[in-house]
Amino acid sequence: MFRRRLRESDYQRCGLAAGRRHIVVDRGNPDAAIIGIGEAPGRVEDARGIPFCGRAGQELDELFAAEGLSTNKHLLLVNLVKCHPPGNRDPQPEDLARCGPFLERQLAFSPARFVVLLETFALRRFAPKRRPFSAHVGRFFRLPEWPGREFLPLHHPALLLRNPSLEPLMREHVRALAARVAT
Ligand code: URA
Repeated sequence: MFRRRLRESDYQRCGLAAGRRHIVVDRGNPDAAIIGIGEAPGRVEDARGIPFCGRAGQELDELFAAEGLSTNKHLLLVNLVKCHPPGNRDPQPEDLARCGPFLERQLAFSPARFVVLLETFALRRFAPKRRPFSAHVGRFFRLPEWPGREFLPLHHPALLLRNPSLEPLMREHVRALAARVAT
């Protein structure tokens, strides 16, 4: 199976391979109606091999749980790149290009009707012209190349750690998603 093969592979054709401990593939339910796409695994995720298992992940869990959605049951969580970038730097165009086919496969195998794009890099990956992020956060959109999917840019949960005042807005966005999923 693709997920297991990728997790257990020792892919080396990328600049991030040398510094990683784990290839971080996914967490949650592969049959979920929502796929959430983050940026890159952090240090904790790299150590454990699980996406969004650190503090930002806890914030994400709580945010969704407050609206009746479990990140392990109602979502599949993945990242644009599967390996931790050194020093937590932003993923570079080359990293994104190398990992692109893996992300495409993850999406192709997922039946998710909703694609949550966690912050700027994820939005840019799918809709580079939709800038700035702040003009699109919380707004659903469709793309002709991904029929049957609705995209929703959301703020990254790591922002909540720095700026707790964002919580009401983020909850409002997740609430709108929960309502849409239920219909
Ligand atoms: N931030 C991300 O974007 N992804 C993770 O897996 C963890 C933190």
